[in-house]
Amino acid sequence: MSLELAIILPTLNERDNLAPLVARIGSALEGTEYEIIVVDDDSADGTAEEARRLAAAHPRLRVIQRIGRRGLASAAIEGFCATAADYVAVMDADHQHDPALLPAMLEAVRGGEADVAVASRFLAGSSTDAWNAPQRERLSGAANRMARRLTGVDLSDPMSGYFLLSAVRARALSPRLSGIGFKILLDILASSPETLTVREFPLAFAARRSGASKLDRAVALDFLAGIYERFLGRIVPVRFALFGTVGAIGVLVHFAILLVLLEGLSVPFTSAQAAATFGAMSFNFWLNNWLTYRDQRLRGAAALFRGWAGFCASCAVGALANVALASLLEARGVYPFLAALAGIAVGSVWNYALSSRFVWGR
Ligand code: GDD
Ligand code: MN
Repeated sequence: MSLELAIILPTLNERDNLAPLVARIGSALEGTEYEIIVVDDDSADGTAEEARRLAAAHPRLRVIQRIGRRGLASAAIEGFCATAADYVAVMDADHQHDPALLPAMLEAVRGGEADVAVASRFLAGSSTDAWNAPQRERLSGAANRMARRLTGVDLSDPMSGYFLLSAVRARALSPRLSGIGFKILLDILASSPETLTVREFPLAFAARRSGASKLDRAVALDFLAGIYERFLGRIVPVRFALFGTVGAIGVLVHFAILLVLLEGLSVPFTSAQAAATFGAMSFNFWLNNWLTYRDQRLRGAAALFRGWAGFCASCAVGALANVALASLLEARGVYPFLAALAGIAVGSVWNYALSSRFVWGR
């Protein structure tokens, strides 16, 4: 029999969850030709080693260990492209998603009942042990209406991380997916040229078994980013737009610090300007880490310190490019404010290019 289903498990520090999950999937899928693909982003806890150890005794388990890459969505895409199975499912590796739903989800899609099967946390019959009521209210409200407008599909849980579809379709849509953030299902539905049909399955959303969540709960941000990306993302990429917005806020922070130091504390200008520059740079690093790169956020004191130092270094290079270009233009008779603006634009691109590569490592 040919390979029917690939279950893609994106992992980041899920070592202790793997063995029991592989066993649960095995008992749920008895009689199905399946494989499990662990796509691990070089977890510090040794998830990839554990996956290889399990794979040695389990021919249906495969491991993709990615070095220097991060992201749930891009890990799922990697899995889509790595399998010969007819269907692909994505699920959390932390036991929050019950593998017992897989056979029914597979049947619904294979039987042509729907293009995509989605396990929903917010359907009659669903339950969300690990979830709080206000969050649920918010999710089922405005966000879902936005999702409907984006995708043309009425979904109770457009941010679900547990879904199944044909592998050919998943790969065909992959080049259109952003690979940013966690909204991969929403992205799949919104990117498809024809409106996809969806069948939802009520999920009892369990508590995570071991380890900590890697996502924050600012689901609304993913939504806004998704909408922006759809309409303007080809002109100015969403990350650069966020980076620029953070930069603009940073200018305000700079002036606020300057004002306090100059007016309030009578600090000499050069020291005040230096302190404000440092303060604004640190603020920008923090906000970019929190917002622009929230899907690959640096955590922990050591990583944060290294990131901050790298960000300051990137900014220094950007500032050099800025001053060099502005001076050149000004010397050629360009109106000084225009020259300054051009310098700022080029400096920002430098900052962005360097920090996205060397600080948040893409
Ligand atoms: N390879 C890889 N790279 N895997 C990742 C990354 C990453 O950067 N970040 C998270 N993961 C893995 C986790 O190890 C886990 O298996 C799965 O992706 C989901 O991450 P969780 O940290 O468990 O997310 P959650 O439970 O807080 O979020 C749930 O709700 C979201 C919507 O609100 C999940 O169901 C998400 O899939 C869902 O989008
Ligand atoms: Mn989870």
